[in-house]
Parts: sequence; structure tokens; C-alpha cells
Amino acid sequence: MRSTEYERERQINQILMDLDLTYLEPQILALPIQAWVRISTACDLRCPLCERQHVTPVDSGFMDFERFAQMAAQMAGVHKAHLFGLGEPFLNKRFFDYVERCHAVGVEVSTTTHALLIDDDLTRRILDSGMEEIAISMDAAEPELFGRLRAGADFDTVCRNVKRLVQLKQERRSPLPDLLICCTVSSENVHQLAAMVELADRLGVRRVSFGDLMAPTREHEHYCVSGSPLVEEHFQKARTRGDELGVEVAYFKQNTRPWVREEIASEGKAYGCAMAWTNLVVERQGETKFCCYIKERCPSAFEQPFEQVMNSEEHVRMRSELTGGDPRTECRGCPYLFVNSPEHVERMLSQVQRTIEHSALPENNRDRLRQLLLSYREKARERFSPAATASGNGLFRRLARRIIPTRVRSAIRSILSSR
Ligand SMILES: C[S@@+](CC[C@H](N)C(=O)[O-])C[C@H]1O[C@@H](n2cnc3c(N)ncnc32)[C@H](O)[C@@H]1O
Ligand code: SF4
Repeated sequence: MRSTEYERERQINQILMDLDLTYLEPQILALPIQAWVRISTACDLRCPLCERQHVTPVDSGFMDFERFAQMAAQMAGVHKAHLFGLGEPFLNKRFFDYVERCHAVGVEVSTTTHALLIDDDLTRRILDSGMEEIAISMDAAEPELFGRLRAGADFDTVCRNVKRLVQLKQERRSPLPDLLICCTVSSENVHQLAAMVELADRLGVRRVSFGDLMAPTREHEHYCVSGSPLVEEHFQKARTRGDELGVEVAYFKQNTRPWVREEIASEGKAYGCAMAWTNLVVERQGETKFCCYIKERCPSAFEQPFEQVMNSEEHVRMRSELTGGDPRTECRGCPYLFVNSPEHVERMLSQVQRTIEHSALPENNRDRLRQLLLSYREKARERFSPAATASGNGLFRRLARRIIPTRVRSAIRSILSSR
């Protein structure tokens, strides 16, 4: 399990990230809160709607461990590393070495798997590793459709493996890893959402996360049902079933057609995106980007530390495109895009200031944060003209009013309790 030695870095990084999200300067203060590290692009399945089946030539291999280890040594402050990739992570024989390097610098670990390889031995190694989260991909609640959507996988084997993992976790009374079932929703399986929740309950998994299918090519657009009344109806049924069974159910929207240049409501206004300011994707060969949708690649995290990568010319330019009011095509249909607004910035800065003043952070930390707040207030005044008073959308309001202040408070609370 991850070391507590780096708790302080994590907490300071959280506060810096909240400040970054408040004003959305293209240059940022924090390290990414989440790193998505493609440690495996090799796969033994042929899921027909996975992008892997539709890119030529397809990459297939593992991230070089030594390069990963050098990179990981500089990741203290990052909250979570998703060891993922367009492939199966457990095919990477050194998977637990990557986990160990993340934990050594206080970074939590999560992964997503087809679960076919989780036999007795792997179950024990997962539990021994103390890794924090595993998402198990299951796209249907019965064998026939499952076999079609997860071509090459066997429904009963996956169910058996998941049950074994749940059982050993219970025997060891271990809260980790947190398990969830991850289901990609398309026209093929939208009618099975409630059944998926029942399946999770039978397997002993208490979280189900649905996510929109992203069309792997333009020819697959008709499989996307995102935002349709059909999804809404089945998701409501799934949620009701989840409430009855005590299974937590969530839905994550995706930009299902990132190649379409959507019209946007507030053309020219300052936009922001939580991914672009707080996340970093690292490709198998080290190149980076702030979101999986973006095809353009930015400087390598094997060549320079995260801090420099996040503030490289390329990353800063992409954030500037958002704040400059002209989001790139991939961002335009994305549910995470939001419009910044002066009222929320001001309110959030006041919240952050109160939290810092009431904290027992060492004086030098508080001073640094006060200075940052001051400069942010000045920038906010400069940036927003009186005419620019568009109010933020729902996500931004939630971030501004609830999520950010709550996170800052909890970060400070943990600093207090760790002293
Ligand atoms: C690409 S897989 C890689 C990890 C592992 N092989 C697995 O299947 O879980 C990661 C997740 O992406 C989902 N996925 C595959 N194709 C997708 C698509 N076209 N749109 C959205 N999610 C997709 C999978 O169902 C899986 O949950
Ligand atoms: S198992 Fe995962 S990576 Fe492999 S084809 Fe299926 S969705 Fe893609």
C-alpha cells in the first residue's frame, strides 16, 4: 500500500490544483492529480467496438519498465496513476513492479481489466500489492451477448474470477482494492443496464460504472446511444435497482464523436476543462497529452519531469485555445467543457482564502498560498470585462460551489491530522 510519507505533497498539490481550476491560467501550478499511464497496448481479446480493432497498424507492447521507474520517481504529489492502455494490463508480467514504484512515492494505483487472467495466483498478488482500485470490464449480463461484445472472453470464467477476488478480499478483511464493474453502453446492450446491476450484486461487487461508447470509426456511429431517451430510461431503471440492492451506480458521459466540430453555445468565451488542467496521459513510448481524445502528442514524460511537461509550450498552447474561446474540434462535443465566469472565480477564491487562513499549515506554506491567491485575484480582475458575465454551466457550478471547497477543506484537514 502507498506510503504516507508523501501525504504532504499530495495535499499541497490538491490545493494548487484547486487554484489552477479556479482561474484556469494556461500555465499551471500543480502536478496532474491523475496520470493515465499506458503500460500495456497488447491484448488477447478482439472486442468488436474497441478502437484496437480499427487502427492500423495497431500498437502492441508494454511500457519499458526502467523508463517508467525513472518517470515514477518524480511523481510524488500525483494522487492516482491509472495503469492502463489500449490493451490488457495484466498481460504485462511486471505489472506489480509498476504498482510498487507508484506506491513508493505515495501515488495510488488503479487499473481496468478484462479479468480473464485473474486466477488464484494473480488474485493473491493483487491483494498483496495493496493496489487501490480495479475496474472490471463487463458489457453484458448474459453469456451470449457478453461473448459477442467481448470476443474471445468467456462469461463464466470472468464471473468465477471476480467472485474469487471478492471472496479473498473478504477473507482477508481487506478494503482494497476497491472493485467496480465497468460497462460500455451501446445500442447492443442498453437494455441490459438493470441486469448489469443485478449481476454485480450476485458477484459481490458494490459499484457499477456505465460509460458511453465512443464510436471507433465513423461507420460505428449508429451504435452510439449517448444522451438518448432510451439510455435515460434504462439508466433510471438501473439506478432504482442499485438503490434496492445497495449497489452504487454511476454514468460517465463521453464525447462519442470527437471528430465532429460542434457549434458551441458561448463561442469566444473563456472555456475550461477539468481534464486539461488536472490530468496527464502518458503514451507507451512516453509522449503525453491531456486527454485520450486528443490525437496530437506532446513532449515525452520520459525526457522531462511532469512539472515541465504540464507547462510545455504544447500543453500551454492547448489550454490557451480553450481559454481563448476557440476549443479544438475534439473538445467541442465534450461533456467536460465548461465556461468560466467571474462570479464563480471570486466566490471560489474567497472560499480557498478562508480555508487557508483557518488551517494550521506551516506559515511558509500559507504565505506561498496567500501570494498565489493575491495574484489570481488580480488576474481575474484583468481577465473578465464587465460584459463577460456568462454564468458557468452545471459542472462548473458544482466544481465551484461544492467540489473545490470540499476538496480544499479535506486536504487541509488531512494535513492537520498528519502533523
Ligand atoms: C480499452 S479497455 C483496456 C483495458 C482492458 N483490456 C479491458 O478491456 O478492460 C478499457 C475500457 O475501455 C472500454 N472500451 C472499449 N472500447 C470502447 C469504446 N469504443 N468506447 C468507450 N469505451 C470503450 C472497455 O470496455 C474497457 O472498459
Ligand atoms: S479487452 Fe480491452 S483492450 Fe482488449 S479488445 Fe477488449 S476492450 Fe480492447
